Amino acid sequence: MENTTPKKVPTHVSIIMDGNGRWAAKRGRERSFGHIAGAETVERVAEACRDRGIKYLSVYAFSEENWNRPKDEVDTLMKLLADTISNKLQKMIDNGTKLIVIGNREKLGDLLNSMIDFAVEKTSGNDRTIMVVFFSYSGRWDILQAAKRFALENADNPDAIKNATLDDFSHYLATDGIPEPDLLIRTSGEQRISNYLLWQAAYTEFYFTPVLWPDFGEEELDKALLEYSLRDRRYGKVK
Ligand code: FPP
Repeated sequence: MENTTPKKVPTHVSIIMDGNGRWAAKRGRERSFGHIAGAETVERVAEACRDRGIKYLSVYAFSEENWNRPKDEVDTLMKLLADTISNKLQKMIDNGTKLIVIGNREKLGDLLNSMIDFAVEKTSGNDRTIMVVFFSYSGRWDILQAAKRFALENADNPDAIKNATLDDFSHYLATDGIPEPDLLIRTSGEQRISNYLLWQAAYTEFYFTPVLWPDFGEEELDKALLEYSLRDRRYGKVK
C-alpha cells in the first residue's frame, strides 16, 4: 500500500477560510450561519494541526475589507471572535496554546480589545502550539504601518534608513517573531491572496481546494500536508 505519511511537516500553516457564505446559502440559511459553522471548523482544524506536530496555525478571520460587509454580518463576526475567546480560553490554557491576534486593533471596540488582551496575556507563557488570528488585518495595512513606524523611529538617523536590510524592516511588521508561513491553504475554490500576508508569503507554498471552509476537516488537511511534503522549495535558487 502506498505510504501517504507526509515526510515534511510545515512549521507554520496558514488558512484563508473562505466559503462560509456559500455553505450557508446552499442550506437556505443566512451568511452568519456559515460563519458560526466556520468557527467550529477552526477548533477542529486547530486540534488536527496540534496532533500532527504543526507548531503555528494562523487563520485569516476578518480582513480590513470585511468592514465593508453589511453591519449585521460584521457584528456577527465580532461576536464570534468574542464568544470564541471566552468559550475556548480555558481549553487554550490547558492545551498549552498561545493566542496571538494581529490586525488593526484601533477599529475594534473597547470590550473586544480588552477580551483579546486578557486572553493573549493568559496564554502568553504557552509554547506548545501557537494560534494566530488575523483580525481586521490586511497585508498592505501591515506594510504601511511597518513603514511608518520604521521611518518615525529612525527619523533622526537617515543612515539607518538608507542601509536598512529586508531583515531590519521585517521586524516592524505586525508578524515580527512569527515564522513566515510554509503552507497557505485557501478553501472554496478561489485562487488569490486577497490582501493577506503579502510580505510574509513571498516563498510560501499555496494549496487551493474547492471544499468550503465549514466542510474542511482532517482528511482535507492531510491532503494539503501530503502535497506540501512533495513540493520542492527552492527559494529562487537552483539545487
Ligand atoms: C470568508 O467566507 C470568511 C470570513 C470572511 C470569515 C471567517 C471567519 C470565521 C470562520 C469565524 C471566526 C473565526 C474565529 C477565529 C473566531 P465568505 O463569507 O467570504 O464566504 P463566501 O465567499 O462563500 O461568501
